[in-house]
Amino acid sequence: MLDHKDLEAEIHPLKNEERKSQENLGNPSKNEDNVKSAPPQSRLSRCRAAAFFLSLFLCLFVVFVVSFVIPCPDRPASQRMWRVDYSAAVIYDFLAMDDINGDRIQDVLFLYKNTNSSNNFSRSCVDEGFSSPCTFAAAVSGANGSTLWERPVAQDVALVECAVPQPRGSEAPSACILVGRPGSFIAVDVFTGETLWNHSSSFSRNASVLSPLLQVPDVDGDGAPDLLVLTQEQEEVSGHLYSSSTGHQIGLRGSLGVDGESGFLLHVTRTGAHYILFPCASSLCGCSVKGLYEKVTGSGGPFKSDPHWESMLNATTRRVLSHSSGAVRYLMHVPGNAGADVLLVGSEAFVLLDGQELTPRWTPKAAHVLRKPIFGHYKPDTLAVVVENGTGTDRQILFLDLGTGAVLCSLALPSLPGGPLSASLPTADHRSAFFFWGLHELGSTSETESGEARHSLYMFHPTLPRVLLELANVSTHIVAFDAVLFEPSRHAAYVLLTGPADSEAPGLVSVIKHKAWMGQSSR
Ligand SMILES: *[C@@H]1O[C@H](CO)[C@@H](O)[C@H](O)[C@H]1NC(C)=O
Ligand SMILES: *[C@@H]1O[C@H](CO)[C@@H](O)[C@H](O)[C@H]1NC(C)=O
Ligand SMILES: *[C@@H]1O[C@H](CO)[C@@H](O)[C@H](O)[C@H]1NC(C)=O
Ligand SMILES: *[C@@H]1O[C@H](CO)[C@@H](O)[C@H](O)[C@H]1NC(C)=O
Ligand SMILES: *[C@@H]1O[C@H](CO)[C@@H](O)[C@H](O)[C@H]1NC(C)=O
Ligand SMILES: *[C@@H]1O[C@H](CO)[C@@H](O)[C@H](O)[C@H]1NC(C)=O
Ligand SMILES: *[C@@H]1O[C@H](CO)[C@@H](O)[C@H](O)[C@H]1NC(C)=O
Ligand SMILES: *[C@@H]1O[C@H](CO)[C@@H](O)[C@H](O)[C@H]1NC(C)=O
Repeated sequence: MLDHKDLEAEIHPLKNEERKSQENLGNPSKNEDNVKSAPPQSRLSRCRAAAFFLSLFLCLFVVFVVSFVIPCPDRPASQRMWRVDYSAAVIYDFLAMDDINGDRIQDVLFLYKNTNSSNNFSRSCVDEGFSSPCTFAAAVSGANGSTLWERPVAQDVALVECAVPQPRGSEAPSACILVGRPGSFIAVDVFTGETLWNHSSSFSRNASVLSPLLQVPDVDGDGAPDLLVLTQEQEEVSGHLYSSSTGHQIGLRGSLGVDGESGFLLHVTRTGAHYILFPCASSLCGCSVKGLYEKVTGSGGPFKSDPHWESMLNATTRRVLSHSSGAVRYLMHVPGNAGADVLLVGSEAFVLLDGQELTPRWTPKAAHVLRKPIFGHYKPDTLAVVVENGTGTDRQILFLDLGTGAVLCSLALPSLPGGPLSASLPTADHRSAFFFWGLHELGSTSETESGEARHSLYMFHPTLPRVLLELANVSTHIVAFDAVLFEPSRHAAYVLLTGPADSEAPGLVSVIKHKAWMGQSSR
């Protein structure tokens, strides 16, 4: 189906050419002028013609030699499928991609807790000053699953964020930052796994670390964004600022003065002011980074505040008028015409809010959304949001146009509890392929003989809205899943992390990559 679309795209430029030549035909006077002004044929022009054809022949010959005779440099062969197993381990819900070994194929980063000290490791927990079991970070080649680096990084990990840029000119252009339990804070080089810096964190023992780790504009003048860690203790959220290049804390702890939940969003208003938005009970809360920075360091720093936002946010509760009934679950950025808009997903409805006025862009849509929506292109080059309305046998997948809020397509796809999130990948026709997890054997009503639940991965493409292609079925517990373009426009695959459901009971952990494009079995 993709080939057909590509063909269409290639035909269009030809159509344009035709139209141009027709325009020329319809305007003969100019052509006649050209004929009249052309010089008479001479021996000179015949020589020119001969020279022209000779050089054309040489050109074609060179092209022929380059394209057929001289072989192309070998691209590293990428395996269709690979799998890495660890016995007696626990895997974290974390998956990151980067080209680590420079072969232009994305590589896979993950974290696991290993309890089998007799496994083969270059460095053990004890070597790094931890007791066994401890958390390992690992990077494996996307091409064949061979280990690139692997090392103990913390006793246990509370929060991790990769691809944090490091200062210009520094050896490590990007880092993974890990907030460990208890009280460690470490940055590792994505490319080598070496420690860039390592400190003990200053959070109090009772504080819980909230996600995600935010990157704020550079405040310590090293040219790299800095880190904002938010913690919660006794119904109060606090912010802690750290330099991303040294890991040193900037100033002191600053209280946001409210209670809140994970799911922070660093929002920049159209006037250039930074605000931290987060769900707090049944409303949307906001806090200016300028205000927090003043509490932390005593000065205003490089940040601005927006008078309109200051008037919208209640000075004591920091709450904004809520547009949804029920709890606020997720806040997500959507690219708008001028700056980002905010998709607010509540337990009973979701709505797109203007990034400056926080007014609804379309009327709120009633839906029972329990999981984070994803984005993708249902129509060419127009972004759509994909939400799951309901759970279990009532689950319905809705594709909505972000510009108007109109439902583009709705798909009934029953699911099992605990299935992984959906994913999307761009395709050659400027749309997206979507990946959904659902019940195995959608059509059949009979119970499975073995009684064990199977999750099936389905692929959906908007050009064939009635087809769900089953790519895989898995009976083990899936901890993390993602669909990834390992190489742009040629190598799409999905990555699965499977392992024990209970983090206290170690078991077999697997990291699996499998090519996704054009599976075999179609329903
Ligand atoms: C630990 O790892 C070794 C080598 O991989 C394996 O033979 C052994 O069975 C593992 N032990 C457990 C408890 O899984
Ligand atoms: C352990 O390491 C040795 C040498 O580095 C290698 O030959 C062997 O295959 C490894 N074993 C496992 C279970 O990874
Ligand atoms: C952190 O630093 C301490 C000493 O400063 C060292 O003993 C420890 O191994 C380091 N930990 C990591 C994970 O690099
Ligand atoms: C795996 O692929 C990398 C390149 O991505 C290559 O350097 C390495 O030799 C391969 N390893 C195996 C075992 O094939
Ligand atoms: C931590 O919590 C415990 C009980 O929940 C309390 O007794 C203790 O004082 C708290 N510690 C701090 C530093 O707040
Ligand atoms: C802020 O909220 C509190 C508590 O809901 C309320 O008493 C107060 O009037 C509000 N302030 C403004 C300026 O709206
Ligand atoms: C979501 O499902 C509920 C009940 O199944 C239905 O009333 C509601 O209209 C659905 N939402 C959308 C946006 O279709
Ligand atoms: C799904 O599982 C069944 C039975 O385990 C197997 O025969 C079938 O090939 C699987 N389908 C896919 C698409 O992997």
